[in-house]
Amino acid sequence: MFRDLTITDIRPEGSDAVRITFDTPEDIDWKPGQYLTLRSTIDGQDIRRSYSIASFPDQPLCVGVKRVDGGAFSTFAQSLTRGKSVQVMQPEGRFCPRGEQTLLLVAAGSGITPMISIAAEALERGAEVTLVYGNRNSGSIMFKDTLDALKDRYMGQFNLIHILSREPQDVELLNGRVSGEKLQRLARAGAVDLNAEGVYLCGPGAMIDDVAVMLTGEGVPETRIHHERFFMEGEAPRAPSVAAQEAAEKGAQVEVVLDGTRRVFNVEEDDENVLDAAARQGLELPYSCKGGMCCTCRCKVAEGGAEMAVNYSLEPWELEQGFTLACQTRPTTEKLVLDFDAA
Ligand code: FES
Repeated sequence: MFRDLTITDIRPEGSDAVRITFDTPEDIDWKPGQYLTLRSTIDGQDIRRSYSIASFPDQPLCVGVKRVDGGAFSTFAQSLTRGKSVQVMQPEGRFCPRGEQTLLLVAAGSGITPMISIAAEALERGAEVTLVYGNRNSGSIMFKDTLDALKDRYMGQFNLIHILSREPQDVELLNGRVSGEKLQRLARAGAVDLNAEGVYLCGPGAMIDDVAVMLTGEGVPETRIHHERFFMEGEAPRAPSVAAQEAAEKGAQVEVVLDGTRRVFNVEEDDENVLDAAARQGLELPYSCKGGMCCTCRCKVAEGGAEMAVNYSLEPWELEQGFTLACQTRPTTEKLVLDFDAA
């Protein structure tokens, strides 16, 4: 599942982030908008984090890692050097452009990383791209040189708008935070087109939700709006339902199908979710964020019932078809079958 990739370059990206580039074997296939899960053992703990790929098409894989106060992996990443190797999972993710000819990209902070790949791919095939990018100040802008280079190269196709919250700019509309209201005002001023064929949002959950509500209010079809959440603030997971509590009290039996193999284990009262229960019994299921955001643990309920504590990544059609996130799943029946091989 993981393989070692050697770091070929590591350099600062803005005031508190680094860009890490990997020696990339030809058999690694990736699409703009996807992410890499990096893994390391830090203080004896298996730590994994997902980082969006920020490479141009056909270029070696690179990610941008922003330092998070107290964040084990992001702090560790700042100490990496050229020539070291890191365990990396095959690229995953579905935050990928769909061949649209007009794109509106909205990012805040490190949410810019997938937008670099998405914009580069779209511009290269002749699409028109508007990127609204929010930061504290000009010093904290990640991939500034890359964005400037794209702007120079695709002058008539690429509309780049920086919004800064702690550094006043001459145009009042460009000051503050990225929000639904800010986007709406930019649209009314003719600076952005909300009717782009694809709207891609990446950053904190609160920003995404605010912008998405505005867009749907403006009549943008939900099918055109795509998002990738980097973190959520203050959203409490749903408490287990009575059915989930009863199933756990009885020691619900969970059967998983993974890479064609069936394994059985139990979920008990102290287990927060299926992923933790499996790990307690020595079975490693795929995961990365453990927070309902990345979809690495996505699987399908093939039999029985289940509920999730949170879901920030599965789309309505996936929920309808019975997909769930193992890191958030609790059985609601005494037997639950989860298929990790389901497409
Ligand atoms: S591990 Fe990321 S959603 Fe479950």
